[in-house]
Amino acid sequence: MSRVTTPPDIRIATERLLLRSVATADADAIVAGIGDFEVSRMLARVPHPYRHSDALTFIAATRAARGEDIALTVLADGVVIGGLGLTGVRTAREFGYWFAKPAWGKGYATEAGRAFLAWLFADAGVDIVRSGVFHDNPASLNVQRKLGFETIGTHMVRCLARGHDVEHIDTLLTRDRHAALGART
Ligand SMILES: CC(C)(COP(=O)(O)OP(=O)(O)OC[C@H]1O[C@@H](n2cnc3c(N)ncnc32)[C@H](O)[C@@H]1OP(=O)(O)O)[C@@H](O)C(=O)NCCC(=O)NCCS
Repeated sequence: MSRVTTPPDIRIATERLLLRSVATADADAIVAGIGDFEVSRMLARVPHPYRHSDALTFIAATRAARGEDIALTVLADGVVIGGLGLTGVRTAREFGYWFAKPAWGKGYATEAGRAFLAWLFADAGVDIVRSGVFHDNPASLNVQRKLGFETIGTHMVRCLARGHDVEHIDTLLTRDRHAALGART
């Protein structure tokens, strides 16, 4: 296993987006985005309704995790449009993301994910990233395919917002596969 190093404040710029470490000032925008059931129903650990205090708890927990969890806010033209991150940086390495509904369908998830994964593999020393989607989320599976993830199985995962277990398609991306796919991803 490679040694993973993550700075406390991360900034990654893409052609249209800025990805930077989550801040307390993002709480309102996070509530507006994730508070939409169309978003939270596709995430495992987000309750519905989603309150301001939930956002503050999430931001504080990420900061307290001291690099074990990475949470980045995604901005377009200075406006918060989503978030993405890696939980369990030295353990499970689970990649997750969400975008507010008005921002869907513009290629933002693919653009942000591509930049974040390149950073994880090249700069942070991560060698493997796990992810996946609920079975009824073809748009997100499409994003992960474009990013190079392979499907490795399925299992049932609790979805807090829906209040029951949902079939989850498990996916994986290794640094070697990411490098081999190169310009194609
Ligand atoms: C899933 C999500 C991240 C996609 O964000 P996005 O910025 O719209 O994604 P992109 O535009 O980069 O790519 C979406 C792709 O899925 C495709 N797509 C969209 N709806 C689809 C559907 N119903 N079935 C199949 N493909 C679909 C798009 O055409 C696009 O593929 P293409 O570039 O080959 O045309 C966003 O909808 C979201 O945040 N959803 C709620 C939370 C969530 O699902 N998070 C991920 C949990 S695993």
